[in-house]
Amino acid sequence: MRALTWQAPGRVSVETVPDPRIEQPTDAIVRITSTAICGSDLHLYEALGPYMAPGDVVGHEPMGIVVETGSEVTHVSEGDRVVVPFNISCGTCAMCSQGLQSQCETTQVREHGSGAALLGFSALYGSLPGGQAEFLRVPHADHGLIPVGSDLADERYLFLSDILPTAWQGVRYADIPRGGSVAVLGLGPVGQFAARIAAREGARVFGVDPVPERRALAERWGIEAFPQGEEAHQQILDATEGRGPDAVIDAVGMEAHGSPVAAVAQKVVGRLPDKLGRPLMERAGIDRLSALHEAIALVRRGGTISLSGVYGGTASPMPLLTMFDKQIQLRMGQCNVRSWTEDLLPLVEDTSDPLGTGDLVTHHLPLEEGPAAYEMFRSKNDNCIKVVLEPGRA
Ligand SMILES: NC(=O)c1ccc[n+]([C@@H]2O[C@H](COP(=O)([O-])OP(=O)(O)OC[C@H]3O[C@@H](n4cnc5c(N)ncnc54)[C@H](O)[C@@H]3O)[C@@H](O)[C@H]2O)c1
Ligand SMILES: [Zn+2]
Ligand SMILES: [Zn+2]
Repeated sequence: MRALTWQAPGRVSVETVPDPRIEQPTDAIVRITSTAICGSDLHLYEALGPYMAPGDVVGHEPMGIVVETGSEVTHVSEGDRVVVPFNISCGTCAMCSQGLQSQCETTQVREHGSGAALLGFSALYGSLPGGQAEFLRVPHADHGLIPVGSDLADERYLFLSDILPTAWQGVRYADIPRGGSVAVLGLGPVGQFAARIAAREGARVFGVDPVPERRALAERWGIEAFPQGEEAHQQILDATEGRGPDAVIDAVGMEAHGSPVAAVAQKVVGRLPDKLGRPLMERAGIDRLSALHEAIALVRRGGTISLSGVYGGTASPMPLLTMFDKQIQLRMGQCNVRSWTEDLLPLVEDTSDPLGTGDLVTHHLPLEEGPAAYEMFRSKNDNCIKVVLEPGRA
C-alpha cells in the first residue's frame, strides 16, 4: 500500500510499504477514506525527531471502512464505516474504566514511561504505524473504533478521532463558571473547536493567534480575536475588569511562536542523532513555553488553566511562585477520546452542524500530496488551517 512516512526532521515522503495484517485476534484492518494532518504531527515532523525512525508511518486522525477483523472482534464487522481514535485503549482496565483511556494500563508504553500507545506517534508512544495510509491496523478494535452512519460526509465524523474530543476535554478541564470567560491561546484546529464549544455553552471567549486568517475564522464564530502580544494581553485584562479571564485554554503547545532562542535549540535537538537528542529533549527543557507563560500571566487569580497543547521536555522552568500565589488550577493531558464520543456524536450528526465541522478544512488533497501538505500546514501558507488527505483520491 501507499503510506506517508517520516524520513528525517522536516522531511516526509509517500512510499510503498507492506499492507498491514491482523496480528492479534482483537485487531481490525480499516481502509482509510479520510485522514487529517494535526498540530501534533508537526511536533513529530521537527522537534521529536530523536524518537522517529526513517520509514515510520505517521497520522492519527483517520476514518474509513472495516475490511477485516480478528477472531475476537465482535462489535464491528467488514463493511462498517468507522472513525479511529488516536489513542489505543482496551476499555476494561483500571484507567479505561475511569474514562482515562489515554492512560490505558494495557497499552501503556512502559519502556518510555508513557501513557497509552498512540497511532503514528513515535517510539515514545509505541511506534505503531499511523493512519496517513491506504490501510491501517487498529489494535483493540472493539473498544476503540467508533461506528458511524453512512449518510453524512466524512468531514462531519472525522474529527471525532482527535481534535473535537481534545477541544471538548479542554473546555471541560477549563471548568468555566456559568456565564464566565475564557481565553483560548492558539486558534489552530484545536483552538477553533475549543472556542466554538465554549461560546456555544455561553462563555465570553477571547481568542489569541498571530495568524490573521485564523483570527478571522474565529470571529465568524463570535469569538473576540486578538493577535498575540502585550497589547492583546492588556485588551483582555481591560475586558475582564483587570482580573483576567476565569480560564485559559492553551491550544498552542511546545512550538509556540515568540521564543526565538528556544526555537533554534528545538530545531537543533530535533536533528541530533537519537542517542544525543533524546536525553536533551527529555531533560534539557528546551520547550518553547511562551504560550504557557502567557496563560499563567493572563488567567485571573484562582482561575483554571487547561492545557490541550502538547509539551515535551521535563526540565522546563515553570514560574511556580506566580502559579502558587495566583492559586492557579492546572489540568492537562492527551485526550481521552472515547470518553467524549457520546457527547459529541449527536452534535456532529445535528443537521445544523453546530460545531461547524464543515467550516474548518481548507484543503482536501490526495495522499500523494502529503509531503507538500505538511510543508503548507507547518508554514501556514495558502491560508492553510486544516488538511484532509484522501487516500482513495487520484
Ligand atoms: N491533548 C491532546 O490530546 C491533543 C490532541 C491534538 C492536538 N494537541 C495539541 O494541540 C496543539 C494545537 O494543535 P492544532 O492542530 O490546533 O495545531 P496548530 O499548530 O495548527 O495550532 C497552533 C496555533 O497556535 C498559534 N500560536 C503559535 N504561537 C502562539 C502564541 N505564542 N500565542 C498564541 N497562539 C500561538 C499558531 O499560529 C497556530 O495557529 C498542538 O500542540 C497539538 O500537539 C493535543
Ligand atoms: Zn492530533
Ligand atoms: Zn485500558
